[in-house]
Amino acid sequence: MRYIVIKCGGSVLDELSSSFFTSISELQNLGFKLVFVHGGGPDINEMLELFKIEPHFVNGLRKTDQQTLKIAEIALIGHTNRKLVEMLQQHNFNAIGIHGSDGYCLQADYINMEELGYVGEIIKVNTQIFHLAMNGNYIPVVTPIGITKDGQKLNINADYAAAEVAKTLHAEQCLFVTNVDGVFIDGSVASSLSQHEVNAYIEKGEISGGMIPKVQSALNAVEKGVESVMIVSGKIAFFENGKWHGTRIFQKEPITK
Ligand SMILES: Nc1ncnc2c1ncn2[C@@H]1O[C@H](COP(=O)(O)OP(=O)(O)OP(=O)(O)O)[C@@H](O)[C@H]1O
Ligand SMILES: [Mg+2]
Repeated sequence: MRYIVIKCGGSVLDELSSSFFTSISELQNLGFKLVFVHGGGPDINEMLELFKIEPHFVNGLRKTDQQTLKIAEIALIGHTNRKLVEMLQQHNFNAIGIHGSDGYCLQADYINMEELGYVGEIIKVNTQIFHLAMNGNYIPVVTPIGITKDGQKLNINADYAAAEVAKTLHAEQCLFVTNVDGVFIDGSVASSLSQHEVNAYIEKGEISGGMIPKVQSALNAVEKGVESVMIVSGKIAFFENGKWHGTRIFQKEPITK
């Protein structure tokens, strides 16, 4: 089975264009089974503002105390997940929302409780629930909240979650859909970036904020065998007549003679 994991950034959910849906339907017509993982930065921030809680980030990761976790969960599952599922349905995709802790789907552990609080990394993805959905011709739309073996829920950066899901499903493709046309280097979109270049640009500060977990997750997916990993925009046709628009992330420079 050909799987494609599509991480849809919270940054772009309210701006997804009709050509975005045309692009994913083109991929579906090529025989790909789709799995969505969504982020929700703006929805979480909006709700934190209502509760007068200041958001804090460490290297693009949201520092999460108990209260922030509760609010993030309400925003992600109650609002963002619903929004994406409903948009997909309106565009005639058969979608079903799944909380990351449902069926112990995203099994997680703390990254660093002292530095980040209730933020997790995924230790195992249980794909059973995805297969159940896909066998019934539903597209799973997963909220990036993980669960520890003791039943504690943890906030997981959606880019990390998508890469882990892609690796576990042995997906052929993993897409990071965001609010910019790709990774900008020196003012224009890089058509491809190697592991070496990504690390150098992070060091130089050309890649910063939310783009850091994204390129790191992209590299992680590539290293673990996901064939094609791209960072693309949800505002444009990122895939059109078989042609990609965005930044491809790969491990090593191609050997040139
Ligand atoms: N070199 C770069 N090229 C492009 N964007 C960059 C770069 N460096 C930093 N960024 C920032 O990264 C942002 C994308 O990451 P961000 O985490 O904000 O969105 P997202 O992951 O799509 O959404 P969410 O986190 O809600 O899921 C861009 O909007 C831009 O501000
Ligand atoms: Mg992000």
